[in-house]
Amino acid sequence: MEDHERDPSQILEELTTAVLLVDDRVRILHVNHAAETLFRVSSRQVVGQTLGTALRGAELLEELIRQTQRTGGAYTQRERRLPVRGDRPVTVDCTITPVSAKRVLIEIAEVDRHARITREQHLLSQNRAVQELIRGLAHEIKNPLGGLRGAAQLLEAELPERDQREYTQVIIREADRLQQLVDALLGPNAPAREEPVNIHEVLERVRSLVIAEDAEGRAEAPAVALQRDYDPSIPPVTAEHNHLVQAVLNLVRNARQATGPGGTITLRTRTQRQFTIADKPHRLVARIDIIDDGPGIPLDQQEQIFYPMVTSRPEGTGLGLPIAQSLVSRLGGLIECVSEPGRTVFTIWLPMETEND
Ligand SMILES: Nc1ncnc2c1ncn2[C@@H]1O[C@H](COP(=O)(O)OP(=O)(O)O)[C@@H](O)[C@H]1O
Ligand SMILES: [Mg+2]
Repeated sequence: MEDHERDPSQILEELTTAVLLVDDRVRILHVNHAAETLFRVSSRQVVGQTLGTALRGAELLEELIRQTQRTGGAYTQRERRLPVRGDRPVTVDCTITPVSAKRVLIEIAEVDRHARITREQHLLSQNRAVQELIRGLAHEIKNPLGGLRGAAQLLEAELPERDQREYTQVIIREADRLQQLVDALLGPNAPAREEPVNIHEVLERVRSLVIAEDAEGRAEAPAVALQRDYDPSIPPVTAEHNHLVQAVLNLVRNARQATGPGGTITLRTRTQRQFTIADKPHRLVARIDIIDDGPGIPLDQQEQIFYPMVTSRPEGTGLGLPIAQSLVSRLGGLIECVSEPGRTVFTIWLPMETEND
């Protein structure tokens, strides 16, 4: 066949780059085969609809289109995360070209695994800087904590009624838990006691802590439904029980603060084969997903929230996520977040076996 006889839109179908054509009201005029694959849609379903109603991850594309409208020229963004497939976003380079007054061409190329690894290493190295700060804070907490515990013990000895000791016991127990956390944060000088840990025992512990907070009215947020979706066949991971409890608790508390009354949080566990965390390949990893149906986190804030002191709550410290990330990264794991309105997933990846074990 002569080249000039070929329908140009057929050539688009051969590309590995996803191509979309939209009009000035961001209605989809055409999607090529690669775009159908990337977004897991069929051309028939989406042509005629707006980006926002047709595709997951459209928020980013709309943002970039607005950018070209401002500048008038083609616009490229590299290594953006696009939440298109399952729970794991893909990293893409995206170019937007106005092709006429009324039409915009969108090209999306998936960048290789390398970009994902760079991003994960960046998350972890950013975390090392954060560690320094957290260690400073931990020292500040450690000193008064000893005094607090001692005073509670003295008070307990003075109390006439046995059942009043319940209160001093709460102080002592919580002081001990804080002490352990502080010790963990002060590591690596205080090495974690690593042992085989059943992740479902960890999740059940978190669940009962959160339910108890609800029952005692101590929670800063309304009660929510806590659902379980466990894969009971997951073997134990090597970790320190208390560290994992703290990490999961921080994520579940955030989820609860984000969901309104009647919200739902799901605790889900799965394994995944052949998975790379930062630059290390693993034959088998465990994933713990904390899923909530709250309003979500805007795309451009999804990495910022792992920095300390980043908080959207007046009473927040902005330390929950960095602490959780540092506890998990010590086990060779990683916490990631994927969020859209109505569905936010925080995933803890924990290595079980390394490729060269
Ligand atoms: N599940 C979630 N849904 C919506 N926003 C969240 C969620 N988890 C975390 N965030 C956002 O991340 C911020 C940082 O969380 P965190 O580090 O735990 O600090 P804090 O809870 O003290 O604000 C929160 O203030 C909130 O804006
Ligand atoms: Mg928090």
